[in-house]
Amino acid sequence: MSHDVVKTEPIEGQKPGTSGLRKKTRVFMEPHYLENYVQAIFDGTGGVAGKTLVVGGDGRYFNDRAIQVILRMAAAGGAARCIVGQRGLLSTPAASNLIRKRAADGGLILSASHNPGGPDADFGLKYNGPNGGPASEGVTAKIFEHTKTISEYTILSAHDVDLGSLGESTLGEMTVEIVDPVADYAALMEQLFDFDAIAKLFAGGFTMCFDAMHAVTGPYATAILEDRLGAAKGSVRNGMPSPDFGGGHPDPNPIWAKELMDTMYGPDAPDFGAASDGDGDRNMIVGRGAYVTPSDSLALLAAQAHLAPGYKDGLAGVARSMPTSGAVDRVAESLGIDCYETPTGWKFFGNLLDAGKVTLCGEESAGTGSDHVREKDGLWAVLLWLNILAATGKSVKDLMAELWEAHGRCYYSRHDYEDVEADKAGAMIDRLRGMLADLPGQAFAGLAVEWADEFAYDDPVDHSRSEGQGLRIGFAGGGRAVFRLSGTGTVGATIRLYLESLETDPGKLQLDPEEMLAPINAAALAISDLKAMTGRDKPDVIT
Ligand code: G1P
Ligand code: ZN
Repeated sequence: MSHDVVKTEPIEGQKPGTSGLRKKTRVFMEPHYLENYVQAIFDGTGGVAGKTLVVGGDGRYFNDRAIQVILRMAAAGGAARCIVGQRGLLSTPAASNLIRKRAADGGLILSASHNPGGPDADFGLKYNGPNGGPASEGVTAKIFEHTKTISEYTILSAHDVDLGSLGESTLGEMTVEIVDPVADYAALMEQLFDFDAIAKLFAGGFTMCFDAMHAVTGPYATAILEDRLGAAKGSVRNGMPSPDFGGGHPDPNPIWAKELMDTMYGPDAPDFGAASDGDGDRNMIVGRGAYVTPSDSLALLAAQAHLAPGYKDGLAGVARSMPTSGAVDRVAESLGIDCYETPTGWKFFGNLLDAGKVTLCGEESAGTGSDHVREKDGLWAVLLWLNILAATGKSVKDLMAELWEAHGRCYYSRHDYEDVEADKAGAMIDRLRGMLADLPGQAFAGLAVEWADEFAYDDPVDHSRSEGQGLRIGFAGGGRAVFRLSGTGTVGATIRLYLESLETDPGKLQLDPEEMLAPINAAALAISDLKAMTGRDKPDVIT
C-alpha cells in the first residue's frame, strides 16, 4: 500500500480555545478540507507515530466517510493503533472513557453536539487529550497554527475498513480495533451506580421514558436501561441513531424535546423522563409534571450523590459555570465543601477534576458530569437520578420540593436572542461594559442595582486568567442578570441573557419562573437597551 503526499492549502480552522471545529457539513466535505484539519491536529499534537488513538462519533451524516479518511491518515502518519466504535459510533463521554481506560494518546470525536445533522446541516470534529478531556487552550492554539500554514498531508491508498465487524485488522502497518461502543461505558456505569437497586425499582413497576432524539445515546440507553436494568421495552424512544437525527434538533430542552415534555405533562405520564443530545453529553430531566432546570438538577445531584456507591464517601467539591444558578452553591455550603465558579465551557472543569478539587460539575446548558470521565455525560446524569429515586423512593417532584424548602429556590431562565447582526450585538455589549461601574446605586424598571462586573476567572490549578467571560448585574434582593455572547452559534451573534432570583419564602416556592423573573428581565432590558440596540422585541428561545 502506498502513502500519498497531497499538496494542499491552509483552511479556516478551529480557533484556539474553542473545543473542536464546527462547520456546515458541505464545508467538511469540500476537497481536502477534512484532511487538512486532521493533518493539523496530528501535527499540532506532535505527530501520531507510534500512538494509540480512539476514534468515533455521533453517527451524523458524513461520520462514516470521515472516519475512513481519519484511519487512512493515521496509518500514513505511523499510528500504532486506532480503537474505533463499531459502525463509527461513540458517544462523547464513552470516547472520553475509552481514552482513559485504554491509556490512549488521545482521541478524535466526530460531532457537532446538539446541532442538526445532514448534508445541509452541521458537522464537527474535535481532539481530546490523554486525560480524555477537550484539548487545552495551548494545544488548540498549536492546531490552529498548523491550519494556517499547512501545505501537504499524507494519506494511505487503501480500501475502506469494515467498521461493522468487531475485532482487529490492519491498515498498512496500523492495527484497527473495532470495539462495542457500549460495553466499557456500561461497565463504568455499573461501578458507579447501584444497578440492583435500580433494577428493583423497575421491577416494582416504576416507569420511564428516555428520548434519545435519534442520536447516539439510543444504543447506550437501550442496552443499559432496558436490557440491563429492566425498564419496560419501549422506554427508550427514538433510539436508532439516524444521520439527520430524524430531521430534528437533538438538543434536550423543553423546546426541542417537546414530545417528551408533552408526555411528561400528559395524562399517562411515566414516573421519570429524560433526554440526551446528539453526542450524548447533555441531559434533560423531567419528573411527572415537573421539569427540572439543569441548575436545579446539579444542586439535587450534589445533595444526594452520596446515595450512589461511586460517591458514597461524599464529594471533594463542586463546580458550576458562572451563568449557572447559585442553587448548587447553597447545597455546597450546607455540605461544607468548596464550590468553584468557572467560565462557560466544559474545559474549565478539567483542571479542577484532574487536581481532585471537585467531584461533580455542571452547566445551565444541560451539561452535568463528574470525575468519572473528562466530558459532561448525559446518561450518567440519568442513572444518578435513577439511583437517587431508587434509594429514596421519592418522586422527582417531592425531591425538588424538599431541596427548595431546605435551601430556597433559585428561579432561573435563559433568554436567547439568536442570529442578531454581529456588530449590533457587539455594540450592545460594549456599551453595557462601559456602563458597569456606574450602575450600582441606580434603579431600573423599579429595581436597584447593587453590584455589576465583568466576570474573569483565575484558574486555581494552572493559574491562567480568562477575561471577558460575561457581564453580571446584581440586584437588591439577591437577583442577578448576566449577558454574554455565545461562542458556539453558527449564524450571526447569539445574545444570551441569564436571569436568576432566589426565593426563600416557603409560600412562594411553586410559582411560574417567567413571572417570578419578569422584574429582573425588565431591569436587564432597561439597562442594556437591548430592544433598541438590536431591533429585537423578544427572545427566540427561552430555556
Ligand atoms: C454553549 C453553552 C455552554 C456549553 C457549550 C458547549 O456555549 O452555553 O454551556 O459548554 O455550548 O456545549 P455558548 O454557545 O453559550 O458559548
Ligand atoms: Zn453535546
